[in-house]
Amino acid sequence: MPTQSTSSPEPLLKVDNLVKHFPIKKGLLQRQVAAVKAVDGISFDVRAGETLGVVGESGCGKSTMGRLITRLLEPTGGTLEFEGKDITHLGVSAMRPMRRDVQMIFQDPYSSLNPRHTVGTIVSAPFKLQGVTPEGGVKKAVQDLLSLVGLNPEHYNRYPHEFSGGQRQRIGIARALALRPKLVVADEPVSALDVSIQAQVVNLLDDLQDELGLTYVIIAHDLSVIRHVSDRIAVMYLGKIVELTDRKSLYEAPMHPYTKALMSAVPVPDPRRRGVKSERILLQGDVPSPISPPSGCRFHTRCWKATQVCKTQEPPLIALKTGHQVACHHPENAPDQVPGETVPAAAREVVQVVSVTKAVPAEVAEPAEVTESSEATEVAEVVESAEAAEATDSSETADGDDIAAPSSDDAATPSGTAEDSPKE
Ligand SMILES: Nc1ncnc2c1ncn2[C@@H]1O[C@H](COP(=O)(O)OP(=O)(O)OP(=O)(O)O)[C@@H](O)[C@H]1O
Ligand code: SF4
Ligand SMILES: [Mg+2]
Repeated sequence: MPTQSTSSPEPLLKVDNLVKHFPIKKGLLQRQVAAVKAVDGISFDVRAGETLGVVGESGCGKSTMGRLITRLLEPTGGTLEFEGKDITHLGVSAMRPMRRDVQMIFQDPYSSLNPRHTVGTIVSAPFKLQGVTPEGGVKKAVQDLLSLVGLNPEHYNRYPHEFSGGQRQRIGIARALALRPKLVVADEPVSALDVSIQAQVVNLLDDLQDELGLTYVIIAHDLSVIRHVSDRIAVMYLGKIVELTDRKSLYEAPMHPYTKALMSAVPVPDPRRRGVKSERILLQGDVPSPISPPSGCRFHTRCWKATQVCKTQEPPLIALKTGHQVACHHPENAPDQVPGETVPAAAREVVQVVSVTKAVPAEVAEPAEVTESSEATEVAEVVESAEAAEATDSSETADGDDIAAPSSDDAATPSGTAEDSPKE
């Protein structure tokens, strides 16, 4: 998919200051007492032909964002433009023609397919809903779609329970592609699948993009999957986009401290780097509640670079380099946005930095050592080397879960996909 990037002057989808607040109501009168600020003012473009990856911890608003841009949810604020047309508040009938162009693939291939309908009924539903009669008839179109996604067209009359998880996801993909959409939003398309199947589905999405000229927004918490599929990546934290740039810049030189912490947990699928020591930043504490997010920069309660200004002023998402947008007062690899505000906070307990030896099997790994090289060392609690060794021993996973790191199994897939992919 990364080979698909094209630059189009007009974005396919333009999202401006999009907001979704879910009201919390209480009492007999069901008065609104608060709101879950699931998406709280995000702006980005999706260019025709590209894959935009969206990552972030659980609960940061990724799925809500996906449902907003496919108009399965009504936005609380902001605007959405598809091919230059404002679709923010279109009603059901006005949205119908647009539904052909924008489709969604859901995370769970088990619950997203009606168990009482045959595959033929499921995949042909979009034709019926839109009143479209494809050339050669619906049955032939459905069978062609089943072949396209690697399923046996003869299985037209089978039920979802007769298929494996990966095959069910292929059925979901066939349904999404029935009307040849322009934009496909895939919400965690492989996370419910067995590791060995994930690579197949990722590669299928990749091939279909080539074949049908699709544009993807792919939501995932697995950074290795996102790395494989994306041209550009948006990193979300508590309802906000904190960094948005191309894949290479994000993985090689992340500028937002949160992204840096996320990236530090990604295993490097490079045999030449066996034994290379690197630091993992383990964020402490839970993600704050989206009902009352922290003032200023929402990440300041967990950020080792936080200063006073971070607590009071929200950093805007701005381009600090060409094509690299960051929302941070004190970004990595760039001059501070707020000169003179560089004294680190006394929040020394907010992160841990552990030194881990990447990509080395446990039996040959030397006990990992604690390093003191990082700037973060001075503001971080450094764990004992025994703990670091444990981190290495456990294939770099358990602790990383704190910051949505992929599990070792998860990690194995995308590196596999990268190697398996004919394009990479
Ligand atoms: N219909 C709803 N009503 C109330 N709150 C909701 C609703 N849908 C989502 N939320 C809340 O909005 C926030 C964002 O949820 P969302 O599902 O978008 O997160 P996510 O990033 O997709 O998480 P995950 O990675 O776990 O799927 C969460 O706090 C969630 O509880
Ligand atoms: S604005 Fe401040 S708290 Fe937020 S990420 Fe940047 S340095 Fe950390
Ligand atoms: Mg989700």
